[in-house]
Amino acid sequence: MQINNEQKETLIQTAMSVRRWAYVPYSHYPVGAAVLTASGKIYDGINIESAAFPTTMCAERVAIFKAVSEGERDFVAIAVVTENAGSPCGGCRQVMAEFGLETIVLIADAQGNIREELTVKQLLPGAFTPKDLPSL
Ligand code: THU
Repeated sequence: MQINNEQKETLIQTAMSVRRWAYVPYSHYPVGAAVLTASGKIYDGINIESAAFPTTMCAERVAIFKAVSEGERDFVAIAVVTENAGSPCGGCRQVMAEFGLETIVLIADAQGNIREELTVKQLLPGAFTPKDLPSL
């Protein structure tokens, strides 16, 4: 599914504005994310760190999990905003792949400039997906 420029702008602006709520006392690297569902809703997320470092959660997964926990599973696009337009981590790519390889990923910097626009399939070629489980 395609998205228009207005939808892209709304997603980027949402991810930019929630970035302020990132809880990042260790990395000082706030990340904002926003996911657009096929039903037209937007769920946002920020990274939340922990003194027990590995229990930190990324912004993309917070946004996706918020959406899924409210019954949404069909994602059109997800925007990620960081200072330097950093790319989603491997764990987040895997979670994105769980819900669809065609979801569009917009990667923007802190000023809202989209530096990359690609699909989950492009971000995670050869992804292991639900179809790879023999019982399904
Ligand atoms: N982080 C994200 O929120 N998303 C990513 O895809 C990459 C990394 C967060 C985790 C941690 O809080 C900080 O950025 C530095 O790794």
